Amino acid sequence: MSQQAHVFIVDDSKLITQMVEDHLKQAGYQVETAMSGQEAWAKLHAFHPDLVITDIAMPGLDGIELARRIRQDSELGHIPIMMLTSKSQIDEKVAAFEAGADDYLTKPFDPVELEMRVRALLARARPAKQTAEKEPPGQVVTVFSLRGGVGTSTLAVNLAAALGLLWRIETTIVDTDLVAGAVALMTDVKPQLTLADLHQEDAAVMDLDVLTPYLLPMAHGSLRVLAAPLAPEMTELVSIPATVAAVQVLRQSFPYTVIDTGSNFSELTLAMLDAADLILLVLAPEIASLRSTLAILDVFRNLGYPPERHALVLNVNTAARRMLSRKDIESALPIPLAGILPYDADRAVEAINKGQPLMLTAPDSLIAQGIADLAFRASVRAMQSRGPKPPTDLAQKIARRLGVKLEGAG
Ligand SMILES: Nc1ncnc2c1ncn2[C@@H]1O[C@H](COP(=O)(O)OP(=O)(O)OP(=O)(O)O)[C@@H](O)[C@H]1O
Ligand SMILES: [Mg+2]
Repeated sequence: MSQQAHVFIVDDSKLITQMVEDHLKQAGYQVETAMSGQEAWAKLHAFHPDLVITDIAMPGLDGIELARRIRQDSELGHIPIMMLTSKSQIDEKVAAFEAGADDYLTKPFDPVELEMRVRALLARARPAKQTAEKEPPGQVVTVFSLRGGVGTSTLAVNLAAALGLLWRIETTIVDTDLVAGAVALMTDVKPQLTLADLHQEDAAVMDLDVLTPYLLPMAHGSLRVLAAPLAPEMTELVSIPATVAAVQVLRQSFPYTVIDTGSNFSELTLAMLDAADLILLVLAPEIASLRSTLAILDVFRNLGYPPERHALVLNVNTAARRMLSRKDIESALPIPLAGILPYDADRAVEAINKGQPLMLTAPDSLIAQGIADLAFRASVRAMQSRGPKPPTDLAQKIARRLGVKLEGAG
């Protein structure tokens, strides 16, 4: 979860409020409770939660009336409401939805289901707000190389993390490396659902509701992961139309979606390159990597990809003395390098061992700075008017370093 979401629980049963509170706190939410409708109504403006969970039958101001008041309030009206109640009569449900409830769960309930619904409601609330503000669709950045091990995943994960930190946004990363997908490992998420399960969904009606259970939030950081299949035998289940549909939904729902790819020109990889607004090609300072990068650029030309849609990133992933120099590389390439990431084995290995992107654990390292600069340059035009005001310290720092003027900067 990004910043911890605030959940407000209203129930006249101490047992229920305690149980829901414990469970949601454990899942990383901030929780406030009230034992009656009146108490809730008195506290809501101060607490201004992201979600309200309320019982229906309470003495005095009941849950239906509370929902109605919330909906009619100019400040609170947009907050999602979940009814949690032992009433399962259809007319009760109808009354709850008429009063403005978004979801309904009957007691006794399964805490896992409760948490899933909370997550879905919160995720749904965001795009609704975005549509209201007429935000443009997000950008898809695909990170690619035809050579394995050059640092594609390292760049993809840290780029997504950097975009989140720069603009205080939630970003998603989709791992389409079906052979060696490592994003779940690099972000320490434990996927239950992966790309391989997405084929069960109808690509024609894919939306954020459907996708939310697939998007695993990182424990620390504003990153959500759609993981690659966990076992090789699952990879044949991956459906290209479903994956493409998922990427389109993510584009509509998040400002940035980063796609990690396998080092091949498979049909899936091509679809992910086609879907990209920006392709970052990663190369290492060695001849085979340089050659394969030139080959990719040829393919892109043949495919008619506009040159402004891709950029080259040199990742110095080796300390070998006989590596190619930056000058050799630049003179062999038809387009300039958009970024150079220095060698830093300690940070790179530590990040993988910890399951924490180095952007989060070592933001001052040169490699993190290199990726943050790249993220900034790739996003500043789209984000400077949409980002937080004043801009984050990180955005201001990079803007100063790169001599860019940021709107609203102090
Ligand atoms: N700049 C760097 N300095 C030192 N080590 C690095 C650097 N970049 C990446 N590495 C290390 O190189 C290895 C491969 O990195 P990564 O997994 O990001 O590459 P990849 O291209 O995605 O590989 P794969 O083909 O397995 O998907 C990792 O152990 C990583 O920690
Ligand atoms: Mg990889």
